[in-house]
Amino acid sequence: MYQAGETITHKVETKMTENPLPGKRKSQLVDRNVRETVGQAKVPNFRMRCENVNVYYQFGEKKAINNVTLDIGRNEVIAMIGPSGCGKSTFIRCLNRMNDTIEGCRVEGTILLDDTDIYDKKIDVVPLRARIGMVFQKPNPFPKSIYDNIAYGPKIHGLVQNRQETDELVEQSLKRAGLWNEVKDRLTQPGTGLSGGQQQRLCIARTIAVNPEVILMDEPCSALDPIATAVIEDLIDELRKEYSIAIVTHSMQQASRVSQRTAFFHMGDLIEIGPTDQIFLSPLHQLTNDYITGRFG
Ligand SMILES: Nc1ncnc2c1ncn2[C@@H]1O[C@H](COP(=O)(O)OP(=O)(O)OP(=O)(O)O)[C@@H](O)[C@H]1O
Ligand SMILES: [Mg+2]
Repeated sequence: MYQAGETITHKVETKMTENPLPGKRKSQLVDRNVRETVGQAKVPNFRMRCENVNVYYQFGEKKAINNVTLDIGRNEVIAMIGPSGCGKSTFIRCLNRMNDTIEGCRVEGTILLDDTDIYDKKIDVVPLRARIGMVFQKPNPFPKSIYDNIAYGPKIHGLVQNRQETDELVEQSLKRAGLWNEVKDRLTQPGTGLSGGQQQRLCIARTIAVNPEVILMDEPCSALDPIATAVIEDLIDELRKEYSIAIVTHSMQQASRVSQRTAFFHMGDLIEIGPTDQIFLSPLHQLTNDYITGRFG
């Protein structure tokens, strides 16, 4: 069981709100003005490790992420929550160098995948983004057939040698994404002709076809109905056996259903990180408490 205060840094502990009324229970919540991360940002067996990450837009004029340190564990789903504009997408894009594609954006700090610094000059981002795949808010199938949507990545990364291997990988990926039965008779039809939920599963199948180690998802269910969302959430739980998954979500119910740890961001700072149950049932920071009780955001 989680012990209150166990993971709070000393610096933060000394700033905890004192209850002015003697004889009453002391409030355990960390004061709203404290911006240092509360909770255990690092895990012993990490898959990715982010240390002192800062992100700037507009050639340094605007800072969007402020000194964030956070690990992503193996076989873990970590949810990233927080009010609109707090930096969730900016942070998750750091993890596979998608911010490189935004002009004027600069990322500082260290981000490791196992023991590899992903921002090292020697790193080629194309294979990197196969190892750390990404699923976006809006499903974005290629303007190709369902089959080719899956086959394209493995072909360019040299994971398949012939048609038979490609067929097998396409089938296996679509099965794992829970889409095979719905599309097996129309593999040559365009991916864009599928429903939103099916397109999102196609994009997930495409991501897993190249055998990634980490999957990043930025609000993957925001355009889906509850049934399609439930299918994706079951899939996320299944995928956790093999991958590490970071998911940005505006749904606290979704974060509670799918994740083991939750990170709460506010105005570019990582305010609190902890086991999902603890974040939602007994957060340590006043701002986390405000957010989960609907006081802002
Ligand atoms: N390309 C950009 N150029 C300049 N500023 C940007 C850019 N992208 C994001 N920002 C700013 O960085 C901050 C964080 O934005 P980000 O999109 O990461 O937030 P978010 O938490 O994902 O929000 P939402 O929940 O609305 O998706 C915001 O102030 C935003 O305006
Ligand atoms: Mg976003």
